[in-house]
Amino acid sequence: MMDRRLEPEIMDGEEQARVYAAADFAKENQDFVEQFVKTYDDMEKAFVLDLGCGPGDILIRLARCLPELSLLGLDASPAMIRLAEDAVKEAGFTTRITLHCQRFQDFTPPALADAIISNSMLHHIPNPLQFWYAVKTMAKPRAPVFVMDLLRPDSPETAQSLVDQYAAEEPEQLRHDFYYSLLSAFTEDEVAAQLAELNFSRLFIDVPDDRHWMVYGRT
Ligand SMILES: C[S@@+](CC[C@H](N)C(=O)[O-])C[C@H]1O[C@@H](n2cnc3c(N)ncnc32)[C@H](O)[C@@H]1O
Repeated sequence: MMDRRLEPEIMDGEEQARVYAAADFAKENQDFVEQFVKTYDDMEKAFVLDLGCGPGDILIRLARCLPELSLLGLDASPAMIRLAEDAVKEAGFTTRITLHCQRFQDFTPPALADAIISNSMLHHIPNPLQFWYAVKTMAKPRAPVFVMDLLRPDSPETAQSLVDQYAAEEPEQLRHDFYYSLLSAFTEDEVAAQLAELNFSRLFIDVPDDRHWMVYGRT
């Protein structure tokens, strides 16, 4: 198994953020939202925190799905937050979706969240325990958690073949980021060990396909 090769934490390049926001993650993001809604049926009026919200597509899809939800999206990249602000305005959700530009390690939420979601951020984080500690401290006890990210393959060759299989037609910047994100990602065993370290006995890990893991359950 190859070692983790860490990529930069914050996606703060204008071009990098623009290419990421323009990519078509509609199916993945809609699946994420539907899976969240299906897994937790007590979320109608909840306050949901999205750690590493990027350009905000998941926030908007979740707001559409549950009309009484209020959401806060946090991202440390000013370029991403600007794109998210534009998208939220265009979707007409400025009263329900708040955006904040800060590293989660330095952030204190205005209130404890009823649920925490995060997609594709953990692989950017040098010390993953900081992320799970944030999940523990920013949410109410027994709050739903739904986190998804890439799974590190066993070799650079497998990473390259995943890029070729799933991003053949994508712009070079996106293919580049996907490849290095795969190398920077965690294995299922590593995530399981992180959850154990934080004593998360009600969180479970699953591997839904050849390049993702998901963690679900309650804090
Ligand atoms: C691959 S993007 C995923 C964006 C979004 N969740 C999605 O699914 O489209 C990862 C995001 O995490 C953000 N990020 C990385 N480290 C962060 C940190 N310490 N605090 C807050 N955001 C961070 C990056 O700036 C980037 O926008």
